[in-house]
Amino acid sequence: MSSVPQLKKDFIQTLHSFSHSHNQSTVFSDWLEMAAISLHQLPYHNGDFPKDETFADLEAKYTEREKCYTPEERTAFAKLFGLSLMAHREGFSDFLGEIAAEQELLNERGGQFFTPYEVCKMMAKMTFADAKAIVEEKGLITVSEPASGGGAMVIASAEALVEQGVDPRSCAQFDCIDISRDAFNMTYIQLAALDLQAVVRHGNTLSNEMWESRPTPQLRYFDQWIREHQQIARLEQLRDFFVNPEAFPAASSQEGEEEVITTDSLETSAPQAQEVAEQPSLFEIDTFAPADPTERRPSRRKADVTLPQPEQLDLFGQERQGE
Ligand SMILES: C[S@@+](CC[C@H](N)C(=O)[O-])C[C@H]1O[C@@H](n2cnc3c(N)ncnc32)[C@H](O)[C@@H]1O
Repeated sequence: MSSVPQLKKDFIQTLHSFSHSHNQSTVFSDWLEMAAISLHQLPYHNGDFPKDETFADLEAKYTEREKCYTPEERTAFAKLFGLSLMAHREGFSDFLGEIAAEQELLNERGGQFFTPYEVCKMMAKMTFADAKAIVEEKGLITVSEPASGGGAMVIASAEALVEQGVDPRSCAQFDCIDISRDAFNMTYIQLAALDLQAVVRHGNTLSNEMWESRPTPQLRYFDQWIREHQQIARLEQLRDFFVNPEAFPAASSQEGEEEVITTDSLETSAPQAQEVAEQPSLFEIDTFAPADPTERRPSRRKADVTLPQPEQLDLFGQERQGE
């Protein structure tokens, strides 16, 4: 198994192998765009999600970029993709951010000086002092990174959670924004390759304009899992209602009146069912939308469904990252 430094060397060598007909930063940008799209499309190609408009749009975008390159160059793109996935299988690092900085592919005039990974790690350790308690209280740790760069702060946060025995793949969600298209794609590639749940946005945090919001496959799978839980919770409520309608006082009909049992009466009489029904699914992009400054946002969002801790903590558990 190659080490990360060796994988980085191979990546840079492959990047340099592109003919001189292409400008290096254009090659890197095009590769970032195509690699990020490939990771987004995986669940569709696996048949886990029906192919929709987003799928078609991104396929077209991919083909648009790819056609500028020869078959040999496309093979080199596939090699870059493989090398970066292998590097993220090795563990937590800002693999792409460091390469971009070393190869001077960042936009310094746009303030792109990425924080060294070890500094990110120190900050993450200080920030997530007692991650397990947060998960037990809230069900999920949610983190916003308004200027993500290559995603180093988020990657270090995930590593800090693992060091506390919390699996970030099922217990943390990240909302990342960057105004630079390359940074948007770098963050997406690295978080998707590490199986982290995130919505990554290409947008301007200061003006609150978002040009694209893309969920990682992990968030989509988690959302699918939680929707099943929401459905089960609803069905359990329905069963409890039929087994013991008295427990739902509002449902009981007036003296002598025909007792009509409807889901509405269930919804109105069973606050728990109401709450579950109303809770937005975790996948709804707007759930992560930066708060409208005029809108008062509830500080502590109550967990929608009490997730069975051992099951959630071990949801993607076979081979825990970093153990
Ligand atoms: C100094 S870098 C830090 C990146 C990352 N947080 C880190 O610590 O490595 C700042 C990042 O902010 C992005 N940025 C600058 N202005 C922005 C804006 N208005 N909205 C979103 N991102 C912005 C830049 O593209 C750059 O990637």
